[in-house]
Amino acid sequence: MGIPYQLLETPAFVLDESLLRRNLELINRVQNEAGVKFILAFKGFSMWSAFPIVKEYVNGATASSLNEALLCFEEMGVKAHTYAAAFIPSEFDQIMDISSHITFNSIRQYETYKQKIENHPNHISCGIRVNPEWSDVKTELYNPASPSSRLGELYENFQGKLPDGIEGLHFHVLCESNSFALETVLENLEKRFGKFLKQIKWLNMGGGHLLTRSTYNVDHLIQVLLKFKQKHNLEIILEPGSAFAWETGDLVTRVLDIVDHRGVKTILIDASFTAHMPDTLEMPYNPTIVGARVAKEGETGVRIGGTSCLAGDFIGDYVFENEPEIGDLMIFKDMIHYTMVKTTTFNGVKHPDICIYRKDGIVELVKKFGYLDFKNRLS
Ligand SMILES: Cc1ncc(COP(=O)(O)O)c(C=O)c1O
Repeated sequence: MGIPYQLLETPAFVLDESLLRRNLELINRVQNEAGVKFILAFKGFSMWSAFPIVKEYVNGATASSLNEALLCFEEMGVKAHTYAAAFIPSEFDQIMDISSHITFNSIRQYETYKQKIENHPNHISCGIRVNPEWSDVKTELYNPASPSSRLGELYENFQGKLPDGIEGLHFHVLCESNSFALETVLENLEKRFGKFLKQIKWLNMGGGHLLTRSTYNVDHLIQVLLKFKQKHNLEIILEPGSAFAWETGDLVTRVLDIVDHRGVKTILIDASFTAHMPDTLEMPYNPTIVGARVAKEGETGVRIGGTSCLAGDFIGDYVFENEPEIGDLMIFKDMIHYTMVKTTTFNGVKHPDICIYRKDGIVELVKKFGYLDFKNRLS
């Protein structure tokens, strides 16, 4: 029996607990078999009502701001691994209080805060993000490894020496990648930073490991990690976001209107691409819609239009098995990771509810949004 979407108010994000647990079980298997630690990258998935489930499998999160570090402390119950491209001075004292690890994006940032870290009553393990200068990511927007990228120090800037007090290195150059890409990154890291690998305690391999995608070769990942760990005798940390919530839920919407202008038909729904699914326009990509497929070249399909007034708030073109009518549901697949974290209240359009489809078959409404959520964002 499927999820009883007909009974839901729309729009609504619905996380499927069983699918989340399936991903977490796989991640946990890699933790155990490779002897590595996984932490959740909040930037990809920070639906904190699901953290009690996440905590059954992994213990920790990576935060990229004070707010994410606070969420980790409050809702995961542990100190965060915090990294930011540059820290905001007025926030740093609080960040130190609630972080077990702090990774700096540059040597200068580390030098700026080194004294404060040394004076702090708790030990905070410090790392530096480095740029291994290799990535399989082709989209420039998502490639942090280009030689002039602002993310991560280049080898030459170290002038042959790791700054005193640095215990770890961090890299993040993958995006929805496989274990063979990771293997190549590690070869490049060794080539450039091999000398430093002997001097540190931990290596954080960032995110972008899409091990929960059905085609991912998990056994190969385990082999790569085991081999690297044995060779360098390091604590290995991986911090994916997407992999945790990959294919774990839908955005359920309803058709509000259908317009036909000079032969171009647009089905208008009660959600917005720009406000609720921005990656469909930014990346851009064609989301999977239940009962539909993307139109082939030369084939006439229909556009799906969002409810905001942005002219470009539409995607297309799709061909439906049975074209939906006003009042019908339209379900967008895989709308949990990087979708929920990026929503806005642009135009004041109704924000989707947040629901969890529990493993006992109950759909739990976790949060409903209203006028005050819109009003409180600004003043
Ligand atoms: C530093 C860092 N770590 C982890 C992640 C998570 O990556 P993903 O969700 O692709 O696994 C990101 C994503 O941008 C990142 O910038």
